[in-house]
Amino acid sequence: FFLDAGGIEEMAESKYRTILEAKSGELEALKDKAIKDSWQPIYHIHPQYGLMNDPNGLIQLNGEYHVFYQWYPYGAMHGMKHWAHVKSTDLVTWERLPVALTPTEEYESHGAYSGGAIEKDGQGLLFYTGNVKYEDGSRSANQCIAMLTRDGSVEKYTHNPAVRGVPDGYTGHVRDPKVWKENDTYYMLLGAQRENETGALIVYESSDALQWSFKGEVKTSLPDFGYMWECPDYFKLDGKDVFVFSPQGIKADGHDFHNIYNVIYAVGTFDVESLTFEMEYYREIDKGFDFYAPQTFQDESGRRLLFAWIGNPDVDYPSDEYGWAHALTLPRELSLEGNELVQKPVEELNKLRDQAVHFRGTLKNEEVIIDEATNNAYEINMTFREIAAKQFGLELFNSKEEELRLVFDTEKQEVRLDRSSFHHQYATEYGVVRSEKWTASNEVDVRVFVDKSIVEIYINGGKIVFTSRVFPKKDSKSAVNVFAEGAVDYRIDYYGMSRGI
Ligand code: FRU
Repeated sequence: FFLDAGGIEEMAESKYRTILEAKSGELEALKDKAIKDSWQPIYHIHPQYGLMNDPNGLIQLNGEYHVFYQWYPYGAMHGMKHWAHVKSTDLVTWERLPVALTPTEEYESHGAYSGGAIEKDGQGLLFYTGNVKYEDGSRSANQCIAMLTRDGSVEKYTHNPAVRGVPDGYTGHVRDPKVWKENDTYYMLLGAQRENETGALIVYESSDALQWSFKGEVKTSLPDFGYMWECPDYFKLDGKDVFVFSPQGIKADGHDFHNIYNVIYAVGTFDVESLTFEMEYYREIDKGFDFYAPQTFQDESGRRLLFAWIGNPDVDYPSDEYGWAHALTLPRELSLEGNELVQKPVEELNKLRDQAVHFRGTLKNEEVIIDEATNNAYEINMTFREIAAKQFGLELFNSKEEELRLVFDTEKQEVRLDRSSFHHQYATEYGVVRSEKWTASNEVDVRVFVDKSIVEIYINGGKIVFTSRVFPKKDSKSAVNVFAEGAVDYRIDYYGMSRGI
């Protein structure tokens, strides 16, 4: 079986309807229903209605940040994918713009799939995959281009598709172009599936970013790593070459790869001429329950920034019944420290902080309860010190009935995120606890962003990150608890967060 967020092959034809075919009043009714849902975030990019998945076309152009995302308007399902569009001057307050790409052409008959962006001659070039399905259930892929002008409007390239079909040796699963320029040549990296049903990365090249020719496959030392690699990314970071991609078909292993599909980064040296990647190491990027299809870009200040989909393909979510699904992560600045990828929420996020409350103390076998958190839109910045506890940590979304537990376990040398107590559950076949190895030292810092039904947890300055959805009971009042079995000092800065979208 081959799945993508486009869904199961035998999907009903009615899901392939563009927004132009909406009946009168239909979109307004969908929106009315979804935006009333109290699980909708207030400062994470999300669709007002319908389903979002991957971030697409990330670029800063003329000072403005543009974020596009995969979007299906008619409910929380993977149907005909459009590119929705938001922009911002500061990465934290977002303006919704008209749909950027509506799949109206023969070369994109079953969706305008994911891709990236570059700047060329002062305008943006957006690259995407035209997804095509046939009656016998097979599919093909065309690589397409659109122009993003400085005023924010998007127009498809008149000579689309730029690449028709897939190269010999690969199935119809070739998609998600990521383009960059190096030594006067443009390169297009694509996720692909070989005919023997293993995942791979392939590359096209071009002198003008419009006409492309097939160059070959990236030679990695991961020859047998799942059956399809989605959403590839490549960039230079702190003197190394980094690939990021979302392989499907990887088995869970220790603390790693517990979601239905997972995301890795691989660090080493890449020779673009020979397409040889000398890999030094690879790891899972994010240890949470809901994280997929990240994309990065470099902004005008030179930062390498990442957004990802907080969600998983082929999983039903509790918000589906309100006719909307999913969100994007906060923007994260990437760096390499030692042999680790570090992800830090961008400093602009401090702008969203409103009231602040500070707590300090020593816990001795007891819990401290912070009641401020009832509206579930806040940031916590905290440090644990003088650690003499077997276990200690935080309980978020704590009501009398349920709570999300973040547990630092000094005996097992791990940190765990446990959402087993929630009434609204999903994807439980993949487990209700996620973990990562962690060794107690003198202190640990934890930064948490909670946004209604989203939680992002950054530990030790962003060396360990858990991104997850949590759907608290609609009528429950949430508090934050700090707990310890033994003694630990703590300092907490709590900030309410204001609306960003
Ligand atoms: C990843 C993905 C991509 C594809 C898109 C379709 O989630 O399957 O490979 O382009 O979603 O929405």
